[in-house]
Amino acid sequence: MYWEKELEVLDHKNLEKLQAERLMKTLRQAVNSPYYGRIPEISHAIKTGINSIEQISELPFTTKEDLRKDFPWGFLSTDKREVVRLHSSSGTTGNPTVVYHNRHDLSSWANLMARSLFAAGVRDTDVFQNMAGYGLFTGGLGFQYGVEMLGCLSIPAGAGNSLRQIKLMRDYGTTVAHAIPSYLGRLYDVFKEEGLDPRKDTKLHTLVIGAEPHTEEHRQRIEEMFGVKAYNSFGLSEMNGPGVAFECTEQNGLHIWEDAYVVEIIDPITLQPVADGEIGELVMTTLDRVAMPVIRYRTRDLTRFLPGECKCGRTHRRIDRIAGRSDDMFIMKGCNVFPMQIEGVLMKLSEVGDDYRILLETINDQDEMIVEVEVKKDWFKGDLSFLDKLQKHITHLIRDEVLVRPLIKLVEPGSIPKTEGKAVRVFDHRKK
Ligand code: COA
Ligand code: AMP
Ligand code: ZN
Repeated sequence: MYWEKELEVLDHKNLEKLQAERLMKTLRQAVNSPYYGRIPEISHAIKTGINSIEQISELPFTTKEDLRKDFPWGFLSTDKREVVRLHSSSGTTGNPTVVYHNRHDLSSWANLMARSLFAAGVRDTDVFQNMAGYGLFTGGLGFQYGVEMLGCLSIPAGAGNSLRQIKLMRDYGTTVAHAIPSYLGRLYDVFKEEGLDPRKDTKLHTLVIGAEPHTEEHRQRIEEMFGVKAYNSFGLSEMNGPGVAFECTEQNGLHIWEDAYVVEIIDPITLQPVADGEIGELVMTTLDRVAMPVIRYRTRDLTRFLPGECKCGRTHRRIDRIAGRSDDMFIMKGCNVFPMQIEGVLMKLSEVGDDYRILLETINDQDEMIVEVEVKKDWFKGDLSFLDKLQKHITHLIRDEVLVRPLIKLVEPGSIPKTEGKAVRVFDHRKK
């Protein structure tokens, strides 16, 4: 059973032919943007033509830093009037990365989302509760429009407020829900505190989990706690958001939709393709986006292609669950955090000393980010009420920057243990 059979089971040869045609169209569109308009390899490829998808290796990569260039309209490939929505990264300092969509882009994204959910067994008879954040997070509206296209009854619950999540589930008979895996431990505890068992007291049969790395063991734990099947959902805002790669009911890796993206896996140092089946950095090119095509985007996510055909009959290759990142970004409560964002906030404050470190801990089954901050010696003398105010101020600034409330510990200079060589700032002790 497929959402759109012809595309999902297209043989490799025809899939590659379709990719080459769509890449040519994408380049013609991309060159209208100020950024790609300046890239000679793109104009050259348009002149000489794309006969085979292998030719993509002649095009340059695009990085997150590039996306910030000519902010905010550097990558806009249409008239601004055509754009109907944007999503952007968090942060109050520096340029965020922004992605624009026209009507075609939004409907193509919703379709990929519907296709993904259908592959995981979701049907129009399901009641779907989305526990991701709405607003600029793509996990909110991205799932919303896909679920509506699929025809489920949707409950746009948004993130947080576990008691209300449980009430919604029970009142409306939620059968499928989407959440960040690390949140589900907390949700389970609240079920228990209320004297409820999600296996008996809800109609849940499926959970869609994604937006942050998790292990196979974590998936199995979630399946046991809730009495469901849990499917891995992968995506990133630069490639729309969710709906990029998804597990089918075989649960053996994530089909990555190759009619919508060219997918490469490279060695992050040599920038050459890795040998088949080896782990490397995922590089992606949009093939069906008009307002903002992105060519050879270095996602920084590490994964590998899985060998063999999938029993479900879908021909789009499968990638393994994300094994890590080739940069220092970490994800806390579904929010992406770069240590530099935190450093940027701290170093602007004259009271703050030279050192800080970020401890990621699981406390009562909830992930927390503790930031230890050295404060200059003088502030520890006399009236200490100032330190209270400073702690609140830093909490506020960091929450505004990364969207997660940190626990701030102010410490005296010299009290943060030094690491050998290059300073290590992040210590991840979270229960995986
Ligand atoms: N998803 C949903 N709810 C979450 C969550 C998550 N990832 N992480 C925490 N929560 C819940 C908490 O359980 C708490 O509710 P409860 O006390 O009723 O159980 C509530 O959100 C606030 O938690 P707190 O720890 O005080 O959070 P915070 O002030 O640091 O803010 C969130 C955190 C949850 C508001 C913010 O991290 C968020 O919006 N996360 C969702 C991100 C997302 O959807 N990403 C998808 C990207 S595609
Ligand atoms: P955003 O652009 O905010 O949606 O964040 C995208 C990033 O979240 C990706 O580049 C990954 O690092 C991470 N991510 C999303 N989905 C998954 C997943 N299923 N497993 C692991 N990491 C994920
Ligand atoms: Zn499959």
